[in-house]
Amino acid sequence: MKVACIGGGPAGLFFARLLKRDDPRHEVTVFERNRRDDTFGFGVVFSDATEEALATADAETVADMAAQSHRWDDIEIHYRGETLTSGGHGFSGLSRRTLLDLLAARCVESGVRLCYEREVADPATLEGFDLVFAADGVNSAVRERYRDHFGPAVDLRPNRFVWLGTTRPFPAFTFYFKSDPSGLWRVHAYQYQSDRSTFIVEAREETWASAGLEHADEAATIAFCERLFAEELAGHRLLSNRSIWRQFPTIRNACWHHGRVVLAGDAAHTAHFSVGSGTKLAMEDAIALAAALREHRDVTEALVAYEAARRPAVESLQRAALASLQWFEDTERYMRLEPIQFAFALLTRSLRVTHENLSVRDPAFVRRVDDWFAGSGPVEVRRTPESAPPPPMFTPYRLRGMTLANRVVVSPMCQYQARDGFPDDWHLVHLGSRAVGGAGLVFAEMTDVSAEARISPGCTGLYRPEHVPAWKRIVDFVHRESDARIAMQLGHAGRKGSTRRMWEGDNQPLDEGGWPLVSASPLPYFPHSPVPREMTAEDMEQAVADYVRAAGFAVEAGFDLLEIHMAHGYLLASFISPLTNRRTDAFGGPIENRMRFPLEVFDAVRKRWPAERPMSVRLSAVDWQPGGMEPADAVGVARLLHAHGCDVVDVSAGQTVPDQRPVYGRLFQTPFADRIRHEVGIATMAVGNISSYSDVNTILAAGRADLCLLARAHLWDPYWTRHAAHALGHALPWPPSYETLNAYRPRFV
Ligand SMILES: Cc1cc2nc3c(=O)[nH]c(=O)nc-3n(C[C@H](O)[C@H](O)[C@H](O)COP(=O)(O)OP(=O)(O)OC[C@H]3O[C@@H](n4cnc5c(N)ncnc54)[C@H](O)[C@@H]3O)c2cc1C
Ligand SMILES: Cc1cc2nc3c(=O)[nH]c(=O)nc-3n(C[C@H](O)[C@H](O)[C@H](O)COP(=O)(O)O)c2cc1C
Repeated sequence: MKVACIGGGPAGLFFARLLKRDDPRHEVTVFERNRRDDTFGFGVVFSDATEEALATADAETVADMAAQSHRWDDIEIHYRGETLTSGGHGFSGLSRRTLLDLLAARCVESGVRLCYEREVADPATLEGFDLVFAADGVNSAVRERYRDHFGPAVDLRPNRFVWLGTTRPFPAFTFYFKSDPSGLWRVHAYQYQSDRSTFIVEAREETWASAGLEHADEAATIAFCERLFAEELAGHRLLSNRSIWRQFPTIRNACWHHGRVVLAGDAAHTAHFSVGSGTKLAMEDAIALAAALREHRDVTEALVAYEAARRPAVESLQRAALASLQWFEDTERYMRLEPIQFAFALLTRSLRVTHENLSVRDPAFVRRVDDWFAGSGPVEVRRTPESAPPPPMFTPYRLRGMTLANRVVVSPMCQYQARDGFPDDWHLVHLGSRAVGGAGLVFAEMTDVSAEARISPGCTGLYRPEHVPAWKRIVDFVHRESDARIAMQLGHAGRKGSTRRMWEGDNQPLDEGGWPLVSASPLPYFPHSPVPREMTAEDMEQAVADYVRAAGFAVEAGFDLLEIHMAHGYLLASFISPLTNRRTDAFGGPIENRMRFPLEVFDAVRKRWPAERPMSVRLSAVDWQPGGMEPADAVGVARLLHAHGCDVVDVSAGQTVPDQRPVYGRLFQTPFADRIRHEVGIATMAVGNISSYSDVNTILAAGRADLCLLARAHLWDPYWTRHAAHALGHALPWPPSYETLNAYRPRFV
């Protein structure tokens, strides 16, 4: 094959090297617009794991790289006058210039033709080539030339950063967080050769502008940063190399190949410097395409196979990079955290490092985190000075007079098994087994305040005095037979009522036997759903009375916590979201108005609910639909709830409108709980795709939420918490009938 590589960066050079080495019959040419010794940037970072993976493709080149790298294990975090060190991270820094030099040398050795000072803006000008490998970097001209085919999307991030070098050799991967009158500055620094480190300075746009850096050239930037970081640089100088203030572009492409042209490296995708992976991704692309070309004789087939192999890994890293860069965009939010928690939150920001794998890398650091966590909660953890702290999820928690044995919560889950609102044996077994399964708190499903407030004929209710003993039987079982507490979630379906049971058609209207609906505005859920009546003042008064009556029944039944459901598009949520509230009276318009009726309900119930028992509210923090609720709006809602005496916000998302476009993923709603917790200063519960013990411990220890709710994971495994305790070596008392399990041997043979 005759192959052209546009761009002599890590992707272009490594691909050329691999291809020619694999089959010397290929004719491979690299076109690079710069001179051979013009290279921009300072050091690049590789983890040990990345180096191992690269070595399987080209051991010789990776050995060259390792010989010239500076290796370190520690991450050092300088925050509020303390230095926190976490070990076991295994990274190497290498000069970008050295990397490009040694890749170019390997290319020459393998017989690749290197053409410097040759710019190729349009692949059409390259005649006679079977394949054009477009590795022309972040501002790729090739990508722009065929943008209709590649479908690029560039997300320009708001923070400003500048890429500098320094003569100070930092001993570890070092983060500084330093405030001056303009705001907070972050530094990411790491050594890449014995007398050089990369030194990236990052700030919010307003901080950067207030420091007068909008028009700063390289000299002014260096002067400013040397002054600000004089102490950290310890007499060393900063170095520039086309060091201008920029915004990071996250680049994605709908497709990576078109005809004989294929995108790779930064031209195809970027991650973020805080996960240090641009060069790694570029080199992995090269490996994947070289492998695909070995396997497929047909170029198109190889390009399809290359994209199929690389896209999932790239997208996964881009998700981690997004979480990481957002953490640095939001660092101001975390500046009140205790140093150890701040450090843990920083280390676990991308979701790739968790409590569990950090405890493998650095057990002493995690022990310090757990020690601090156990001592920082509202309930004293009884232990001797020698005994290990409990894992964060087994640290007790208190809200008003309710103490939870641990932080795992069974999320409310409608069962659609009730008749006339009565919970029965199914509910006893469903909730009872999960309480015995070890969770600290078990939520009963959304239980409706009137027969017309039900979602479906199978929903439970608390609107008849006879419902009380049916619920009390379950509450008494949980209290008698387990250490769990039990919560009631009160709801009113609003426009999402009068539907079939979930498995007969989710949210689909009943064919017969339905009932009239009310909502904030007369908008049907689906076009074919019944149109609800816009609530009148009398309707609202009636609904408040229904909620208060239900709260009284919940007191009688003995529930420990009461939650008001204001999420998922049901009645109260229909007032909160601008998508479903089109009212022009005092209950529509700005958020204070839209919250008026939900707060009336909350206040009335709070009055009826005993002062020593806590109350929570479930919110949809985002509607996943333009014009709907955004996370910043949810912060405003939570602030109002906090002022009205809500103890904890249960942070869910979506389900407001049927054409929502959610972004699912592991822990996808946790960032909203984190934001509300820190910006409002109220306790939060995180929910949504939480399923591993490690994620629960990480969320809690990092301060992203106070409690973790698991729904589907508890459908799989009612004993989820017991399994977690076993895996984490934590003793959880068994009911007496199961005590033999603790003896580890059968007593009755
Ligand atoms: C200014 C800057 C500094 C950086 N510094 C660092 C750093 O210190 N450490 C780090 O880890 N990462 C750094 N990065 C990010 C990192 O370089 C990339 O993620 C990684 O190099 C991607 O490799 P690549 O081969 O895809 O692209 P690049 O390394 O960007 O290489 C693209 C190459 O294509 C050439 N080129 C572009 N257009 C044409 C054309 N039309 N014709 C011919 N040649 C062309 C460019 O001159 C360049 O040499 C830096 C990025 C930039 C933009
Ligand atoms: C079968 C089922 C029923 C649910 N019923 C309710 C409910 O009654 N009230 C509520 O607020 N959320 C309800 N949800 C949503 C869950 O409480 C939870 O927020 C959601 O499933 C995300 O958590 P997960 O990823 O752990 O499943 C239900 C979820 C499931 C799977």
